[in-house]
Amino acid sequence: MAALAACIAAALYFWFDPLGAGERTSEPPAVKPAYYDTTPVRGRLKTALMTEGTPCGTCHDSMDPPAVDPSKRGTFHSQIVLRHGANVRCFNCHNSGKRDFFSGFGGEPIPYSRVETLCAKCHGPHYRDWQQGAHGRRNGYWNTAMGERKTQVCIVCHDPHWPVFKPLRAAPAPRTLRVTASAEEH
Ligand code: HEC
Ligand code: HEC
Ligand code: HEC
Ligand code: HEC
Repeated sequence: MAALAACIAAALYFWFDPLGAGERTSEPPAVKPAYYDTTPVRGRLKTALMTEGTPCGTCHDSMDPPAVDPSKRGTFHSQIVLRHGANVRCFNCHNSGKRDFFSGFGGEPIPYSRVETLCAKCHGPHYRDWQQGAHGRRNGYWNTAMGERKTQVCIVCHDPHWPVFKPLRAAPAPRTLRVTASAEEH
């Protein structure tokens, strides 16, 4: 009988919570938009091959073929830091005659919009994996009937001149009520 009374008293205590001790769970802090932003590391693709808003041809189309050592970049573009393994020549990638384009195997121009075919020239296996969706990233929808599936192109992630990833800061672990509850269940 005493046990039953104690149980009822406890139930009433917890139900009405006279001391307000039940307010233990606080709202989790808002997740910063940067942590769920799907923009790739280098942002979005530009509209054309250009430097500081100027298309390459603006200067280069009117210049004679330069007499610079092809392994050097000259001084004009000295802000370009090329750390791409054994790939040390500007014209391995850039088209010397048509400066707004990249250069294919036979020197044929590759437009900016097809930059992945430039990378494919030397990174066949990665290009193949990327085409199949095993390298890089897809954004949007799996079911294309519901919306667009967007394949991210190589240079929105890799800096073409220095393609290895710079260290990234990891986002903090999620701290949601659901995660806390399931952690307690186990
Ligand atoms: C504002 C003018 C200007 C623009 C725009 C420009 N360049 Fe140049 N670029 C130059 C000059 C001047 C040189 C001569 C090199 C030097 O400094 O001795 C040069 C040199 C180069 C070289 C070194 C080899 C060579 O031809 O001498 C490369 C490669 C190159 N530019 C690529 C590009 C690419 C790619 C773009 C577009 C993304 C571009 N440039 C846009 C002015 C420009
Ligand atoms: C691996 C191929 C590759 C090599 C090698 C390379 N580039 Fe580029 N370069 C690119 C690609 C791809 C872009 C377009 C980048 C973008 O739009 O994000 C680019 C963009 C540029 C730009 C415009 C972007 C900016 O920041 O102003 C300049 C200028 C340039 N390259 C100059 C050079 C010079 C000079 C060299 C040689 C020292 C060189 N590149 C070597 C692939 C290459
Ligand atoms: C002319 C050949 C050539 C082209 C074109 C080329 N690469 Fe490379 N890439 C190389 C070489 C060579 C290495 C160095 C491999 C090594 O050192 O093991 C390399 C290395 C890399 C690495 C690995 C970096 C590291 O240190 O682990 C990445 C990522 C990469 N390239 C991305 C790209 C992308 C993106 C493009 C297109 C914009 C591209 N490459 C175009 C030849 C090329
Ligand atoms: C969504 C971003 C993204 C895209 C798009 C992307 N990559 Fe990568 N790639 C990565 C990451 C992340 C790594 C691993 C980097 C590391 O370990 O430092 C990587 C690694 C690489 C490596 C080096 C692998 C090694 O074993 O060292 C190469 C080469 C490469 N990518 C080429 C490409 C090419 C070519 C394309 C386009 C056809 C491409 N990537 C598209 C994110 C991307």
